[in-house]
Amino acid sequence: MASTDKLKICLASSELTPLAKTGGLADVNVALAVYLHQQGHDIRVLIPFYPSIETDNLNVEPVANLQNLAITIGTRDFFYSIDVGTLPDNGLPVYLLRCPALYDRPTIYTTSADEHLRFILLSRVAIEMCQRMQFAPDIFHCHDWHTALIPLFLRTIYFWDTLFANTRSVLTIHNIGYQGVFDANIVGDLNLKGGELFLHQDDLHLGQINFLKTGLLFADLLTTVSPTYASEIQGAEYGMGLDHILRDRSDAVVGILNGVDYVEWNPKTDPLIPQNYTSRNLKGKAFCKQALMNELGLAGGSEQPVIGIVTRLVEQKGIDLMERALPALLTRQNFSLAVLGSGEPRFEGFFESLQKLARTRVSFYRGYSNKLAHWIEAGSDMFLMPSIYEPCGLNQMYSLKYGTIPIVRETGGLADSVQQIDADTASGTGILFRDYDETGLAWAVSRALELFENKALWKKIMRNGMAMDFSWEQQGEEYVALFRQIAGK
Ligand code: ADP
Ligand code: GLC
Repeated sequence: MASTDKLKICLASSELTPLAKTGGLADVNVALAVYLHQQGHDIRVLIPFYPSIETDNLNVEPVANLQNLAITIGTRDFFYSIDVGTLPDNGLPVYLLRCPALYDRPTIYTTSADEHLRFILLSRVAIEMCQRMQFAPDIFHCHDWHTALIPLFLRTIYFWDTLFANTRSVLTIHNIGYQGVFDANIVGDLNLKGGELFLHQDDLHLGQINFLKTGLLFADLLTTVSPTYASEIQGAEYGMGLDHILRDRSDAVVGILNGVDYVEWNPKTDPLIPQNYTSRNLKGKAFCKQALMNELGLAGGSEQPVIGIVTRLVEQKGIDLMERALPALLTRQNFSLAVLGSGEPRFEGFFESLQKLARTRVSFYRGYSNKLAHWIEAGSDMFLMPSIYEPCGLNQMYSLKYGTIPIVRETGGLADSVQQIDADTASGTGILFRDYDETGLAWAVSRALELFENKALWKKIMRNGMAMDFSWEQQGEEYVALFRQIAGK
């Protein structure tokens, strides 16, 4: 490919692994950006410089001409600087937006009254950074509500700038459940100066501004993270009130399944797990299982089925269904649970009480631990994801690679990445259930436990999953092809 064919992309997001992560958004951003970078595209990634970002191995340096700049948001002046660091594992340059007044908070997201300002700043600085670098991107790649205003800003505040004459915007929906809805009285903070007419007028009358909705209206292309979710969100059940807009724009909506970073998530090379293994030699997996059980204080040996769960503890992930189904299932069936997660106190409380109920069969680690996430993927026999909705989901794909059979609800990316096991033909990779109720979940878990008894079949199914390839080579090229198409390249 001639170098002129290379794309220029500005990717702005609230999360990027390993610097700032609450979920899969961070993993997907970095993997896509690294892929594009390695393919020779000029990709400039901008995230906020949260104080939690560890800079030890990043070689962070201030970017000349991007220091102590002022920007007016609403009527307030904010001062910001941009530094650049390089991710040590893959050489990806990352631009870090420093603005202590807005980002020096203990967490990535807050419930503060100025939350909208934090991401208006990120979105506007993404554009102003390009201006100051005289970098004319072919594509602004926006992610979720946090940077969904970029397409609007390009049409309003920055409309005059011919630098962006050929720039197109792509908004990727990782989760339509988070829309960034604010009171309409923040309208002045958008500094649209007449461009308010671009905002959704019915919402304004209702006293709201919805950042994600605004992005859906103005981005040139809308992508989401699996083909099934792309069609689900165009219907009322999954569209969370935005389905009519997505239906109106259905020609611009594309679903691309997320890829997996197999440098991070591969049992053959994973440095975090107790022993490495491959589909040909599964002894290491048995070792990892025993190590996990010992570490977590779970009783039993290799015969004891272990189900892993690693998740944000929020409604989306089907925790209330687990609340309704798991206590009875644990009484009726013999299996153990290794749970890692944090989130809503009511759900944390549920797993704490489940652990009290069956101390030698249930382990709950409340918090965030990348190492334990790897241990659970490697050491469990099965992995449970009974999500109400799941735009893509990464853990079921990690599970497949680790020979850990996913038990998932048939929705979104779970439906696109897990194939129902057929015991007669020894085909398939996991267990899918459709109805979001106790019967559905109980059926799926019982089915998994029954199949687990058939050792030869179980091994074959593990190997089916381990052979699946969700690497970024394929998915990354799908993004490139779409970017080229809309950029007219
Ligand atoms: P979502 O983005 O909706 O949370 P995904 O399945 O796409 O769901 O991604 C979740 C990512 O976050 C995975 O990499 C998973 O391992 C990680 N993760 C979630 N909760 C924890 C936790 N408590 N500790 C460590 N990793 C976690
Ligand atoms: C979201 C979704 C999850 C998806 C991730 C990355 O947080 O909940 O399904 O895998 O983003 O796209």
